[in-house]
Amino acid sequence: MHTAIIMDGNGRWAAARNLDRQAGHRAGVRAVHAVVRAAARCGVDTLTLYAFSSDNWHRPRAEVEALFGLLRRYLIAETDRCISDSIRLNFIGRRERLTAPLLRQLEHSERLTAGGRRMHLRIAVDYSSRRSIIEAGRQLQGAPLAEMTDFLALLGAADHSDPAAPAVDLLIRTGGERRLSDFLLWECAYAELYFVDCLWPDFDETAFATALEEYARRQRRFGRIAAPSAAATTAGQA
Ligand code: IPE
Ligand code: IPE
Ligand code: MG
Repeated sequence: MHTAIIMDGNGRWAAARNLDRQAGHRAGVRAVHAVVRAAARCGVDTLTLYAFSSDNWHRPRAEVEALFGLLRRYLIAETDRCISDSIRLNFIGRRERLTAPLLRQLEHSERLTAGGRRMHLRIAVDYSSRRSIIEAGRQLQGAPLAEMTDFLALLGAADHSDPAAPAVDLLIRTGGERRLSDFLLWECAYAELYFVDCLWPDFDETAFATALEEYARRQRRFGRIAAPSAAATTAGQA
């Protein structure tokens, strides 16, 4: 199962406490820690977290630097834990605009966790889904239209996803907004969407379990008609 999360609401969480936005982002990192463990325990195979969108570059420089600083410290603190929990860390998005120390740390964490088999944890940094789709489209180079799954592989290559991720099954967005904000547009074609008002720093293991329970109650049809229930089938045969 592939779950993706738009971790939104750090700024509002901080504002509600008269704190600066950076304090909200620090609290957000604690939620990341909790949700990554919860996802691994719940049997999620791939977890993609939206940490920084390409449009987030338009934020004040101090906030952008604070976010990247937090990301680097998160990796320094968490890489060993990922190794022991068999979690494979991977960054998707553009790499060429990141600072050299951050990029070194990202690649180092990817290398050290490459053997992780329990869960593929993808963190989207300087990520734009529209850009990924354009990049992947370029790779087609006039070839006959690829099968959908082949296009997922091309998207994976465009994003530096190793391995490429399957389509998203469940997309969670915290913070109350009901939009995708340029996240996994292609991959979410048949995703179940789960929007929750809870601000990201307050999202915890219980909130994650609630989202999974809601997902389990959804009926996915992929354009087909609903499979008849066992009882209805029996009645029809009588
Ligand atoms: C999400 O929280 C974190 C990032 C986008 C990096 P926000 O910083 O967007 O928080 P709000 O939406 O302003 O509350
Ligand atoms: C989406 O949140 C990006 C991340 C969570 C990293 P934003 O706060 O940037 O999205 P908008 O601006 O509300 O659409
Ligand atoms: Mg936001």
